[in-house]
Amino acid sequence: MYRSHTCGELTRSDIGKDVTLAGWAAKIRTMGGMAFIDIRDRYGITQLAFNDGYNPELLKKAAAIGREFVIQAVGKVAERESKNLQMPTGEIEIIVTELTILNSAKTPPFLIENDTDGGDDLRMQYRYLDLRRETVRNNMLLRHNLAQAVRQHLSTAGFIEVETPVLIKSTPEGARDFVVPSRLNPGQFYALPQSPQTFKQLLMVSGFDRYFQIVKCFRDEDLRADRQPEFTQIDCEMSFVEREDILQVFEGLTKQLFTTVRGVDLPEVPRMSYADAMCYYGSDKPDIRFDMRFVPLNQVAQGKGFGVFDNAEAVIGICAPGAAVYTRKQLDELTDFMKRPQIGATGLIYCRVEADGSLKSSVDKFFDQEALKLWAEACNAKPGDLILVLAGDLHKVRKQMNELRLEMGSRLGLRDPFNYKPLWVVDFPLLEQDEESGRWHAMHHPFTSPLPEDVPLMNTDPGAVRANAYDLVINGVEVGGGSIRIHDRALQERMFELLGFTPDQARAQFGFLMDAFEFGAPPHGGIAFGFDRLCSLFGGSDSIRDYIAFPKNNSGRDVMIDAPSALDSAQLDELSVSVKKG
Ligand code: AMO
Repeated sequence: MYRSHTCGELTRSDIGKDVTLAGWAAKIRTMGGMAFIDIRDRYGITQLAFNDGYNPELLKKAAAIGREFVIQAVGKVAERESKNLQMPTGEIEIIVTELTILNSAKTPPFLIENDTDGGDDLRMQYRYLDLRRETVRNNMLLRHNLAQAVRQHLSTAGFIEVETPVLIKSTPEGARDFVVPSRLNPGQFYALPQSPQTFKQLLMVSGFDRYFQIVKCFRDEDLRADRQPEFTQIDCEMSFVEREDILQVFEGLTKQLFTTVRGVDLPEVPRMSYADAMCYYGSDKPDIRFDMRFVPLNQVAQGKGFGVFDNAEAVIGICAPGAAVYTRKQLDELTDFMKRPQIGATGLIYCRVEADGSLKSSVDKFFDQEALKLWAEACNAKPGDLILVLAGDLHKVRKQMNELRLEMGSRLGLRDPFNYKPLWVVDFPLLEQDEESGRWHAMHHPFTSPLPEDVPLMNTDPGAVRANAYDLVINGVEVGGGSIRIHDRALQERMFELLGFTPDQARAQFGFLMDAFEFGAPPHGGIAFGFDRLCSLFGGSDSIRDYIAFPKNNSGRDVMIDAPSALDSAQLDELSVSVKKG
């Protein structure tokens, strides 16, 4: 028996017990005739005590132990003299009578403590050591708990977990595919799924009725804090449902997860149309933890001789509560933030509402108190508030103002990560047009159904057709998205036609799905949650990497195993793949 207890469970009530612990030497302190070792395992840390008064040999052995040695200690639980009430085991220690080194260890490249001295790159290179740290381990635990709660909830609700293949044919969902050469079919490639979309629809044709899968998806896209090339979805599909059914079921799942895993009761999830989200927040994933909605100022700000406003398609303001105290220097800094190439604003106009109600703007030359009062009224600005205004092309100004709003929200402390504000965004456009080629693309994916009342517009005004699609947004993060699907072959063919596929191309890519639709496809729809994003939201972090055991870096590399890597020529030949030297 390697251990009688874990390193996290012994407390006062165990005093006097003979125990055996096994784990890693986290901290070693020797002082005079005494030594202490903190022994750590997944469950916690317990102090081992050695005293030369009764066993000098043992003390010598303890002093020879290095950090991260794997050790086993036999001894008696005793009350500790200097207690540490921060730790569950902080009131006791083990008076060791036998010590065994199970394995020695090289000195680790960084401190394996919550406050580590290891930088990002080093920790990723030695991720297996990083995972020994309590904070990282707790993230994995949170992930596990969430997955358990998802399986429990969905299974109880009648969903069946079905595995779909990983070597498939490409599904056009916006990103590039990762591909795998087929040795047995020279010159041909599998694609790794960007999602199991077509398979889950086929499962509905098979009559599975309610499907889910916690599943790896692969997308070859540019990486960010909330994007990994391989990530996990909670993928779901249901038959004989309308949008309302889906929203109800998955609002239920979301609420349940927050209750069981975080102990938070979520409010009812409000709904907002895509058009409103863009108009009031300039984003299809608004962070509604704070207000600061966009206010159109064209009417009150144009026609006063200020060219920047007069020549602009849109003049939009936001009211930052309590920010009139911003100094000139702070406002200049904010302007510089907006002018960075990533945002690209040409300037930022402000108007302070002073404590006495007087107004002080950066464009006083063009706007007197009367004129500025109209701004303040439109923005519902109170004494102490700061109005910030951007002008220009509507699309650009919305995007820029979204960045400014989020920045002000952060600066004013309005974005507490543990204050959860979910939102359904609905009625997305079905199609978006590529500016250069004029081609239509599916905004969600080509299997998304239009809203029934908009179907006739597919022939007359495709850009105006709304999709029967929805996104779940929490605190400005797109956590999930889905839609009611097209289940009718003729409508699906019309959709492919709109997307510029010839009938032959559509057949080559999706013949299997269109064929299936002729064998009795039920009305169906579904959703997929980004599981990693859900984990990071629950953990209060912006980065999904913290919640993935072995993540890739921003160049898509796994620096620990050093992948991707080159193949030798024999392997390439076998796969009939030739590599351009460059
Ligand atoms: P969608 O493409 O919106 O929908 O993806 C669903 C959710 O997956 C998460 N997500 C990601 N998470 C981490 N890294 C990535 N690279 C990444 N890409 C997406 C997001 C997103 O909301 N088949 C459809 C779903 C459906 O229609 O049912 C789909 O995949 O949280």
